[in-house]
Amino acid sequence: MAAGAMGKAYDATMGRLFAACYDRGLKATEENGLGAMRAELLAEAHGRVIEIGAGTGVNLDLYGAAAEDLTLLEPDEHMGARLRSRLADRAPGATPPARLVAAPAEAIPFADDTFDTAVATLVLCTVPDPTAAIAELARVLEPGGRLLFIEHVRSDDPGRARWQDRLEKPWRFLADGCHCNRDTEANLRASSFQLDSVDHGKLPKAPAIVRPLIRGTATLSA
Ligand SMILES: C[S@@+](CC[C@H](N)C(=O)[O-])C[C@H]1O[C@@H](n2cnc3c(N)ncnc32)[C@H](O)[C@@H]1O
Repeated sequence: MAAGAMGKAYDATMGRLFAACYDRGLKATEENGLGAMRAELLAEAHGRVIEIGAGTGVNLDLYGAAAEDLTLLEPDEHMGARLRSRLADRAPGATPPARLVAAPAEAIPFADDTFDTAVATLVLCTVPDPTAAIAELARVLEPGGRLLFIEHVRSDDPGRARWQDRLEKPWRFLADGCHCNRDTEANLRASSFQLDSVDHGKLPKAPAIVRPLIRGTATLSA
């Protein structure tokens, strides 16, 4: 097998493995605080909602009554298969109505001003081009629309940030493309969103390089 083909086969195996282990791997983190943070954030979603990089669908049952309709973007086939089966297992008439769209956040296949709320949880660390993804979210949101986010980020502590830089490559390899040293807050501040609130905290029960966490909301200028 040629080196390129071998690399692709290896990536596919890692992608399948990552999706298979995702929910179990995050169980302690969810139970020790992340699940509660998700629920608190997603209670704020309203109207037509788009979630990018929805993974296995961990957020699906956490949306509040104000979320009327849910579009879940997920480009990875292995994550998408798990999300599809989670959607199929929902009770008939479960709300909000939800559908999977296999697309990347950098090229959202919807017209401008389609959604009221956008959701990004643990995904702006992984998308290959976060600036393009944030610009796409701004494009598909109505003016005044809100982005709800929980993201692990680059540390404010220079010593820890240096470790994040050193370990970025092996971590990216093990964690299916996740960049542990990404400054997502700076990327959001440089975008057309206005940050309403940003809490700096910790991802519970997580390795030190992915522990620094931001959660909050940002509004698109009307
Ligand atoms: C760490 S998982 C997070 C899953 C979920 N959002 C959560 O909160 O648990 C990162 C997700 O981003 C997805 N992803 C990777 N590249 C992407 C892209 N270009 N656009 C959107 N999602 C992407 C991955 O397939 C994966 O499902």
